Amino acid sequence: MSLYREIVELAKRRGFFWPSYEIYGGVGGLYDLGPLGALLKQRIMEKWRRWFIQKHQHMVVEIETPVIMPSRVLEASGHVESFTDPIVECRSCHRMFRADHVVEDAVGVKTEGLTPEQLTRIIREKNVRCPACGGELGVVRVFNLLFRTQIGPYKGNVGYLRPEAAQGMFVSFKRVFESMRGRLPLGIGQIGRVARNEISPRQGMIRLREFTIMEVEFFFDPEEDYRGMIRGFEGEKLRILSAEDRAQGREEPREYTLQEALDQGVVIHPLLGYWMVVARRFVEELGVPYENQFFEEKLPEERAHYASQTFDQLVKVERWGWVEVSGHAYRGDYDLSRHMKFSGQDLTVFKPYPEPRIVRRKRIVANKQAIGRRFRSKSPQILRELASMDPARVEEALKKDGYVVVAGEKLSKEHVYVEEVEEKVAGKRFIPHVVEPSFGAERLVYVTLEYAYRRKEGRTVLSLPRDLAPLQAAVFPLVSNVAGIVGEARRIRDKLVDAGLYVFYDESGAIGRRYARADEIGVPVSITVDHRTLEDGTVTLRDRDTWRQVRLPSSRVVEAVKRFVWENASIEELGEPVEG
Ligand code: GLY
Repeated sequence: MSLYREIVELAKRRGFFWPSYEIYGGVGGLYDLGPLGALLKQRIMEKWRRWFIQKHQHMVVEIETPVIMPSRVLEASGHVESFTDPIVECRSCHRMFRADHVVEDAVGVKTEGLTPEQLTRIIREKNVRCPACGGELGVVRVFNLLFRTQIGPYKGNVGYLRPEAAQGMFVSFKRVFESMRGRLPLGIGQIGRVARNEISPRQGMIRLREFTIMEVEFFFDPEEDYRGMIRGFEGEKLRILSAEDRAQGREEPREYTLQEALDQGVVIHPLLGYWMVVARRFVEELGVPYENQFFEEKLPEERAHYASQTFDQLVKVERWGWVEVSGHAYRGDYDLSRHMKFSGQDLTVFKPYPEPRIVRRKRIVANKQAIGRRFRSKSPQILRELASMDPARVEEALKKDGYVVVAGEKLSKEHVYVEEVEEKVAGKRFIPHVVEPSFGAERLVYVTLEYAYRRKEGRTVLSLPRDLAPLQAAVFPLVSNVAGIVGEARRIRDKLVDAGLYVFYDESGAIGRRYARADEIGVPVSITVDHRTLEDGTVTLRDRDTWRQVRLPSSRVVEAVKRFVWENASIEELGEPVEG
């Protein structure tokens, strides 16, 4: 059985995940998380929060905004027009497919950036047939991936389920900015559900029609030098396959320090690179080693409509090769500018200078009397046009020709001249730029499971990073028919629960089988109460990964489990070794 199949099988049997609506035959791209999957996802989200919000709390905050969005928001963001994939229908069986995928699979050519007409031409020329029934394929058209709905009872009141959390952050930017006392940089993060009406999702938990996104929109002043913010990170390594390398046919990433990636222009902004380093470290903590991840720069034709540079963070998995777990986009001022235009609201920020600056600037001075005398009724129009002219251009024309043309009339130095003035300027007004790290949580659930999956002596062991384990400790009475043993085991379970831990408690069956069941769902440590406990008050602690055991007084179990799970203590640090 392939690793993927084994994980899917384990996930269903032990309650990590399974296709939704199974009793009705299922719906593609929709998955349930079971009791253990829901806990694992919570722990991954908590780790994301720790890396992206809590560690950066001096400049990143988390918000929550609705899943339902009025149409206008997504018209402004460009999704109503551009959030599309090409689709093709089989003329025989009427199944629908992603046209680019069908062409790529059949012909082996790259299809990014091709128009529906170009895809149709390839289908005709290469006689690409329906992958399901071999029938003739129709004409390629575009399909919008937004889930459309209606807000309230009014037919014209179109709404959409959000395809990304990001727009919530852009739309509420001004309010968050003001509540955070108007400081930049400012990160606004959000964890929430999003929906994308994928055409034919076939990759299990990797491509879903509804999933949880974890995003930060990091707003900053494009003119400020943020190299200070990456201090201490300059030497951090990133494996990157640049767009330039890809265009030349290279497939292997190169290794750069963050500093090298910036100096060589591979990453266009220090803050984009900064969050890529954070992302790499976060994903390493999920169990994916450095060498099994890299950042692939998107080619211009592959980028989303809002981005001027994008990297996908790719992770190697057994079934699909390299899959994207996060996207890192330089969104510039695209989103805020669009929302300004569509809402009519001012979303610029004012940044005071530390000290008011004296700025010398050129100013056009019009001699109204002379203009009135010479141009009469045309003078109001001339004055209006002069007011919006570039002083440098006016000065140059006067110097070169002795006159400047305004509203079709020649004005000479007696009508207009340019002078230099000094002004006190308190600050500047501008639209912040944005870099965005964005993760899908369910993909990470699958990736984390795959990287934890081990076979040991014919048994499955889920070697999850200990702090991600859904259940953190197992408690077993060695036998179920000695009241003192069972009583002490239950007492220990209750103490662990009171300490905030999730506990796997099992009284029945051979102890070896119970250990195996705990290992299979990744419980990092098992506590066994036996006959000796009744004599000297000690219990055994067993490490899921090494299977080594130590003994310690039961009164120290809670503290020992916490150290083992959250501080990565070794089992040997926690008690006396057990022989054999
Ligand atoms: N906000 C990133 C994405 O939509 O993929």
